[in-house]
Amino acid sequence: MRAVNIGLIGLGTVGSGVVRLIQKHHDEYVEHYGVDLCLKRTCSRSDAEAQRLGVIDTFTTDWHDVVSDPDIDIVIELIGGEHPATEIFEESFKAGKHVVSANKALLGRKMEHLASAAAERGVAIKCEAAAAGGIPVVNALEHNLIANETLTIAGIMNGTTNYILSRMEAEGSSFEDVLADAQAAGYAEADPTADVDGFDAASKIAILASIGFRTRITTDDVYMQGIRAISSIDMEMAKEFGYAIKLLAIARNTDEGVDVRVHPTMIPRNHLLASVSGAMNAVYVVGDAVGETMFYGAGAGSFPTASAVVGDVMALATPISQGRSPLPESEPFGHNL
Ligand code: NDP
Ligand code: HSE
Repeated sequence: MRAVNIGLIGLGTVGSGVVRLIQKHHDEYVEHYGVDLCLKRTCSRSDAEAQRLGVIDTFTTDWHDVVSDPDIDIVIELIGGEHPATEIFEESFKAGKHVVSANKALLGRKMEHLASAAAERGVAIKCEAAAAGGIPVVNALEHNLIANETLTIAGIMNGTTNYILSRMEAEGSSFEDVLADAQAAGYAEADPTADVDGFDAASKIAILASIGFRTRITTDDVYMQGIRAISSIDMEMAKEFGYAIKLLAIARNTDEGVDVRVHPTMIPRNHLLASVSGAMNAVYVVGDAVGETMFYGAGAGSFPTASAVVGDVMALATPISQGRSPLPESEPFGHNL
């Protein structure tokens, strides 16, 4: 067994959770899985979080220090946004490092380009946390449901909008009032556009549809309509007729190809998705062999999201620690790009 060296870029909400989970489970991973995860480098713009987490001896403010470290096997990108996240992926691949990321916005737009760049260098991208946070649906689609032709993926993949719609339904409040509360509670971003206009859910369904339907779908392919126009009267009418209104992200196999969309949807009250309230997420997957399946859980938050990241790290680290390559099984978008 050899140590598997990790470089972690981003020590915010998710990155700090990753450090805590690796610290908590280190000895257990050695004992039960023979995997010695070593957090060799950490990086963010300020050192406050590294101090707080007790990893200051590994710390740098320059991400190049992490990707150029020849000892690092796996880079975890948790800074978000397009740049320099794209460069972190590309430079890591060039240096022969696998990348684990939760960056749904980037992967939703550029997964084909990034997957090709990874495949060229014989390394893997893992992104369980990028779609529905802690819910293990990316790996389910990629591995567990491989015996299926995926027929439908549909779900509540944005916690902010589900929180807003749930409050509007329960209290008869207006969209604007509840949005302000969602921001105060930390669910919505200071600029909530990506959440309320459907872009965040579109990124997630683009990732899931690409994996589930073994095709290439980007956020630009997704028809998108957000929840700004939903009024308290809409909610009341839906309730009266036995429906809930949810922002659904839906991908379906049709005769014309995979149809992917995000829009507010009336769901019969007795459907499982109608009972998902607050900031929770749920993803409903129908396969031709398995039939209906449903995945439910926290789509955001420090530990739920870090749980998915560390799961991906361990999937890569287990073969590496035994001197084997994690490919081909762990490459998320397939090799035939
Ligand atoms: P945060 O804003 O909390 O943290 C971002 C971190 O990245 C900070 O440590 C920041 O440093 C660091 N950072 C930003 N730019 C740079 C840079 N150029 N060089 C070095 N460090 C940098 O983000 P989150 O943890 O919330 O999100 C991380 C990723 O996970 C995003 O892609 C997000 O979409 C995704 N995600 C987040 C979820 C959540 O619940 N928060 C859920 C699912 C996915 P500093 O603080 O010093 O500025
Ligand atoms: N803003 C996102 C949400 C965070 O509300 O679901 C998790 O991706």
